[in-house]
Amino acid sequence: MSQFVQSIIYENGTVTILDQTRLPEEERYEVIHDLAQAIEAIKQLRVRGAPAISLFGGFVLVQEAFRTTGSLDEVKQELLTVSAQLLATRPTAVNLRNVLDELNQLIVSATTLAELPKRLEQKAVALYEADAKTSRQIGVHALELFQADDRVLTICNAGSIATAAYGTALAPFYLAKEQGIPLSVYASETRPLLQGARLTTWELQRAGIDVTLITDNMVAHTIKEKQITAIIVGADRITRNGDTANKIGTFQLALLARAFGIPFYVAAPLSTFDLTSLSGDEIEIEERAATEVTQFAGQVTAPAGVPVFNPAFDVTPHELITAIITELGVIERPSVETIEQTVGQQTI
Ligand code: MRU
Repeated sequence: MSQFVQSIIYENGTVTILDQTRLPEEERYEVIHDLAQAIEAIKQLRVRGAPAISLFGGFVLVQEAFRTTGSLDEVKQELLTVSAQLLATRPTAVNLRNVLDELNQLIVSATTLAELPKRLEQKAVALYEADAKTSRQIGVHALELFQADDRVLTICNAGSIATAAYGTALAPFYLAKEQGIPLSVYASETRPLLQGARLTTWELQRAGIDVTLITDNMVAHTIKEKQITAIIVGADRITRNGDTANKIGTFQLALLARAFGIPFYVAAPLSTFDLTSLSGDEIEIEERAATEVTQFAGQVTAPAGVPVFNPAFDVTPHELITAIITELGVIERPSVETIEQTVGQQTI
């Protein structure tokens, strides 16, 4: 049995997801019957994490391709509309755009109706299989930056359930476990939706990896008291100069890392790079419902009508990032130049 829970399953034209909103209490799988349900699943974070959203989006497009009827032109038009609707779900992570761009090219260039769903399926499956290998490679490179007994802090969930396997920021911990290297993980709970508390601790604990949960306001104290040796996070979009959008709270972790003189690492595949944007100023930050902040586990925790600011992500300036770890290797001191050297020539 694999050490990883599969958060997305594609079989015979049908997509199934592990509903991440129900974790850790319940491991409930949900079959995706139509586009409206798929869109709701992304918006409600039933499926979440930049790579997972993109792989899911690809499979949903395949599912729709097998079901859509009409002339070649009608089917193409219909599928491009589906693709646009998927893309409009969440604005910050770029991986979905990168995957849909690849699939859209196949749609546009298709010459027969019969071949289209199959070609899309082959591509989506290949991307899914590649993601597990990519994530493992990120883990291999990240692990080189750690030493036995390091105590590493992370936020949100950039783990196996946010990818096909291994995760990005969590990949080195799986590899360390495989190799018998002791590392301790500190997971910040990640208000308001608790991806750190609900998901990161759940998947690491289940894999037998040493993980300790803290609330978000305990980070500075924990770095000092537990002598945290590094911080590692995932990413939703990395611009040409290395500015990185990730879960809200990441920016303040980078500032703390600088204040304490410890390294701050971003782990992400090439599909998280947006080379069309020069800096983080160009990244659209998703804002979510006020009720995510004014309620906790269904309980009202703020007075009715209080104004709320609820951005889902923030941007860490590249100057605060010690290195970006990709499947191709470690980009130290990320900048337009260093990123160009590693990523520039690759197809993303
Ligand atoms: O809102 P979420 O839970 O989708 O946010 C996820 C993150 O911020 C992750 O760190 C990022 O997508 C990388 S997942 C490998």
